[in-house]
Amino acid sequence: MKLTPAQLESFDRDGYLFFDSLFSREEMAVLLAEVPALYRQQRQEVIREKGSDAVRTVFAAHLMNQAFAKLGRHPRMIDPVTQIFGEPVYMHQFKVNGKQAFDGDVWQWHQDYGTWKADDDMPDARAMNVAVFLDEVNEFNGPLLFIPGSHKQGAISASHDLSTTSYPLWTIDNKTITQLVDRGGIVAPKGPAGSMMIFHSCLVHGSPSNMSPWNRTIVYLSLCVVSNHIRKFSRPDWIAHRDFTPIESLADDCLTNPSVRIDSLPLAQPA
Ligand code: SIN
Ligand code: MN
Repeated sequence: MKLTPAQLESFDRDGYLFFDSLFSREEMAVLLAEVPALYRQQRQEVIREKGSDAVRTVFAAHLMNQAFAKLGRHPRMIDPVTQIFGEPVYMHQFKVNGKQAFDGDVWQWHQDYGTWKADDDMPDARAMNVAVFLDEVNEFNGPLLFIPGSHKQGAISASHDLSTTSYPLWTIDNKTITQLVDRGGIVAPKGPAGSMMIFHSCLVHGSPSNMSPWNRTIVYLSLCVVSNHIRKFSRPDWIAHRDFTPIESLADDCLTNPSVRIDSLPLAQPA
């Protein structure tokens, strides 16, 4: 998959791209089938919502599970990012965000690069998120909200919120958000399972809680240019990886082709 000049221009202007139904239902079913077993695990990589058993995030699922390991090397997710940067990338972070029906909590306004710079000493914002919807995302189940063009601001000053939700985040104050929204507005890309988004690590984003009866499972690959790897190892390596090996993408049919196998799953639990 190669991004067109028009897509590259739109990414540069808005800070994100949306691909409706890029993956098939069959491909998403392969991943969704693995989610309950991931959620059942009681381990540090599985973060639950504050005051509830609902799963907020499973970190490093690509090191635990064969299907997610393949997703972490999927050409439709990796190749557009290497194209944008013109350099190989490694996996800085991999997460399955549950945003579960009724219980999925808010993600306050933030930039991912704010956290990666402050906590991990990533030199530049030469890193990107690629997100794929395992469920339909609609206006009711907590879609991601983007402020188009906000990536042009670079790293914005932020405060470390350790209390609002179960996951610490460097969040941006309301006054700054108001100014950014006055200029760029807010968009909430929505679509069927299998849709994909690419967004710049300085794009300001957040998401409301999920009051609906529908889960909103989204998988995020945070891909960083290899030469821009993190310098500080203060967070656990299952949150901010220290394996800077360039990702080599697999064949396009890898998710549905059982003969494509990843040999090493270092965090897999014995069956
Ligand atoms: C994030 O911003 O890292 C996650 C937001 C979401 O999944 O809603
Ligand atoms: Mn984020």
